[in-house]
Amino acid sequence: MRNLTMRVHGRTLVDGVDFSVEPGERLCLLGASGSGKSLTARAVVGQSLPGMTLSGQVLVDGCDVAGRPPSRRPANARVAMVFQDSASALHPLITIGSQIGTTLRRHGVPAATVRSGVDDLLASVGLDTPGMASRVPSQLSGGQRQRVCIALALASRPGVLVADEPTTALDVVAQATVLEVLRQQVGAGTALVFITHDLAVATSLCERAVVLASGQVVEEGPLPELLWQAKHPYTQELSAAAYAQTLPSDQTLPSDQTLPSDQTQPSSQPLPTDQTLRADRAAWAR
Ligand SMILES: Nc1ncnc2c1ncn2[C@@H]1O[C@H](COP(=O)(O)OP(=O)(O)O)[C@@H](O)[C@H]1O
Ligand SMILES: [Mg+2]
Repeated sequence: MRNLTMRVHGRTLVDGVDFSVEPGERLCLLGASGSGKSLTARAVVGQSLPGMTLSGQVLVDGCDVAGRPPSRRPANARVAMVFQDSASALHPLITIGSQIGTTLRRHGVPAATVRSGVDDLLASVGLDTPGMASRVPSQLSGGQRQRVCIALALASRPGVLVADEPTTALDVVAQATVLEVLRQQVGAGTALVFITHDLAVATSLCERAVVLASGQVVEEGPLPELLWQAKHPYTQELSAAAYAQTLPSDQTLPSDQTLPSDQTQPSSQPLPTDQTLRADRAAWAR
């Protein structure tokens, strides 16, 4: 990201932001609400807004993709995103297996191996319960849905994975599980940009942080050193808040069987058949 400036209807909301993240590195974008984190994420992913103008460079694997939507980016400049609200990020009527399968096919996985690819991805995010692939999002807990979103993001084999406050809406057990999945599954070839306002969560996952305030980078440094060497008043404030807070202590990835509070919610809804979903799926795939 070089000198990224974003204006919406003439108002400068992101102002000369510079940072970089290496393959395999987990970088945190830290900042209070309204500091410009999500807008910066939009620029990385290539989502535009009405009235938005953008200048500067967004370099992914050396290719400048600033202002380019995902469909107009080369394969080596792929960026995937995980959002805070997992419910609206997934199609509500299509089974999660089909949603992941569609993404795998789009990225060139041969039809014969899509099914095993779906199972592998679900297992990699701790969702290997039998029948999981046939469920629709409403038949999963919030933490399970967010792990499906991570599996979907990984299905496109992105060079960069941007996760915008992916744990904010989750209880502490589901939060720890999602963090552990990100820690384990974002592999050597992928860079993670993890967005949060929570320095404690950032420190448990990321090696380095870039701190944003009012759309500008105010501080940058390795974690956890940034915690006790904070120079900018805003980072000092975050640091004090993080010290006052208790971190989730469970850093292992429990299986669903051992996670009672993150279990599948019983659903009165019958599982839809592939036939009833075909029309929706075709519409979604477009
Ligand atoms: N669509 C938009 N139109 C106008 N202003 C926006 C829009 N989205 C965000 N903003 C403004 O841009 C600033 C940064 O927003 P955002 O990137 O969402 O912050 P963060 O994710 O750090 O909470 C805020 O002042 C917000 O009000
Ligand atoms: Mg935001």
